[in-house]
Amino acid sequence: MKICKKTLGLQRELNKLRKEGKKIGFVPTMGALHNGHLSLVKKCVAENDVCVVSVFVNPTQFNNKTDLEKYPRTLSKDAKLLESVNCTILFAPDVEQIYPEPDTRVFDFGQLDKVMEGKYRPGHFNGVAQVVSRLFDIVKPERAYFGEKDFQQLAIIREMVKQCNIPVQIVGCPIVRETDGMALSSRNMRLSKNEREKAVLISQTLLKSCTFVPQKSVAELKQWVIDQINSEPILKVEYFDIVDGLTMQSINSWDDTNYAVGCVTVYCGEEVRLIDNIKYKEPK
Ligand code: PAF
Repeated sequence: MKICKKTLGLQRELNKLRKEGKKIGFVPTMGALHNGHLSLVKKCVAENDVCVVSVFVNPTQFNNKTDLEKYPRTLSKDAKLLESVNCTILFAPDVEQIYPEPDTRVFDFGQLDKVMEGKYRPGHFNGVAQVVSRLFDIVKPERAYFGEKDFQQLAIIREMVKQCNIPVQIVGCPIVRETDGMALSSRNMRLSKNEREKAVLISQTLLKSCTFVPQKSVAELKQWVIDQINSEPILKVEYFDIVDGLTMQSINSWDDTNYAVGCVTVYCGEEVRLIDNIKYKEPK
């Protein structure tokens, strides 16, 4: 595996490979890699000639300074993991390489980023769109892989690609869960043993809530999920919404859509913010 820290070095390498007719797949990450990321990398390796993984903690998508400072950084461990799953190139730039000038672009995603993560983390998706469009411009991949755990992010990236006419195929990949159901996240590393034990209630509640569809109304189900998670004193639901899986807008009745997804954000303790989601209805 090659490690590139400079944009120019990476582009030289990729131009060479492209001339040889190699198809380039790309997995953008912020590092602190776990099996969820590795599932994306493995798919990328299987479906492309070249797999590029970026590790870059993007400052423009953090609206909270402490969250940015505390975001885990484990580059040498990440490199070993990537090597073990046959990643071709690790791109690990610093901020200068990605933003030689401050990025002042403002994207307009209509209603897509006015709800859920977009509402509670103002500016977050604009930062994600900035960095992902910048990375796409550098890597110019045929395909790019994103996890469905960040469900709204995936919708935003699809919209950004459409708006900017970027010739890349976006591949969404299912959430990877621990054996107890907890969704894998780099933020899980920040949980104490006790918090981690309690946090499993989030995924357990989401999984159980599926069994009440469509008997409970959307409103009843929302309240049930919130009450259930909040019944554990160290968990605090920031929001739980049931939305259309394409528009991200709330639904009021199960008949409103054929693609219904429940999205939750929960504070575990004072600082660690966890997200998860579950599909209640999916188009065949
Ligand atoms: O999902 C993430 O880890 C990040 O938001 C991404 C897509 C790598 C952009 O920084």
